[in-house]
Amino acid sequence: MSRIVYLNGQWLPETEARISVFDRGFVFADAIYEVTAVIGGKLIDYAGHSGRLKRSLAALGIQAPVSDDEMLSLHREILTRNGMTDGLIYLQVSRGAEDRDFLFSDDLTPTFVMFTQSRPVLANPKWQTGISVITMPEGRWVQRQIKTVQLLYSSLAKMEARKQGADDAFFVEDGFITEASSSNAHIVTKAGTLVTRDLSNALLHGITRGWVLDLARRAGMAVEERGFTPAEAKDAAEVFITSATNFVMPVVRIDGQPVGAGTPGPVSETLRKRYIEDRLASAI
Ligand code: PDD
Repeated sequence: MSRIVYLNGQWLPETEARISVFDRGFVFADAIYEVTAVIGGKLIDYAGHSGRLKRSLAALGIQAPVSDDEMLSLHREILTRNGMTDGLIYLQVSRGAEDRDFLFSDDLTPTFVMFTQSRPVLANPKWQTGISVITMPEGRWVQRQIKTVQLLYSSLAKMEARKQGADDAFFVEDGFITEASSSNAHIVTKAGTLVTRDLSNALLHGITRGWVLDLARRAGMAVEERGFTPAEAKDAAEVFITSATNFVMPVVRIDGQPVGAGTPGPVSETLRKRYIEDRLASAI
C-alpha cells in the first residue's frame, strides 16, 4: 500500500515525491529530524518533539519551514490522509538545495519532508524478553544534542551488534556510556537508584528520558543524573533504554553478560506502564 507523504507543501504518493540531488541533506547530512509516536490516532509527547525540533533548527541556523500551528495541523493531516492510528511520524528538515559547496547561502529554502510508518507501538514483543547490547567506542560527532540525520555511525553500530547476535550498542566515551545508538541508556542500581547520564552535548536530550525521570521522581524513586561506566551497568539490578519508538525497553545482556537475573526487571516494567498511561492521557 502506497503512503501519502508530505514534501514542501504538497501531499504526494510516496513513489512521486522527489528531492534534488543537490539537497544539502543528501550531500552533507545538513538536516535535522524528529520521530513522534502515534497511539490511537493521538500524538505522544508532541510538545516535547516540536520544542526540540525548533532547538535543532536554531542550532544549525535553518529556518523553520512552517509555523507552529501549521506543524501541528500537518501532523494531524498526515494521519488522516494515511488512515494511520498507530505508528510513527518521521519529519526531516534540511537546509535546502544549491550547487555543492561546503559554504552555504543563508537564503536557502529548507526542504521539509514528513512520512508515516504504521506499526503496533503498544505491542512490542521485545518488552517481554528485553534486548541485548554490546558496548562500542563512541564515534559520532560531538554535537549530539542536535538531532541531525548524521546517523551512519549509529547505523553501522547496530549492524555490528546484529553481527554479534545482539540488538543494539551502548557507546562509550572516556570510560562512560553516552547513550545507545538511537535511545538513551539508564540503569537501576542494586540500591534502587535510577541513574542516567546528565544532559550535555554528549547525548541527545531524549523526550522520553525526560518524562521517565519525571515519573520516577513522582513515584518516589531516587534519581541521579550522572555518567556511569559499562562495569556499573553490568553490575546493575536493571538496565533499560528509552526512546519515542521503544518507550522503556529492558536491556537484559551487555557484552554477553546477563544483567541481574537476565530477564526484564520490575522497575523497567513499572516505568514503561506509567509512561504509557501518563503520556497517553496527555496525548493530543
Ligand atoms: N531516536 N538518543 C538518540 C541517539 C536517539 O536517536 C534517540 C531517538 C534518543 C531518544 O530520544 P526520544 O526519547 O526523544 O525519542 C536518544 C529516534 C527514535 C530515531 O532515531 O528513530
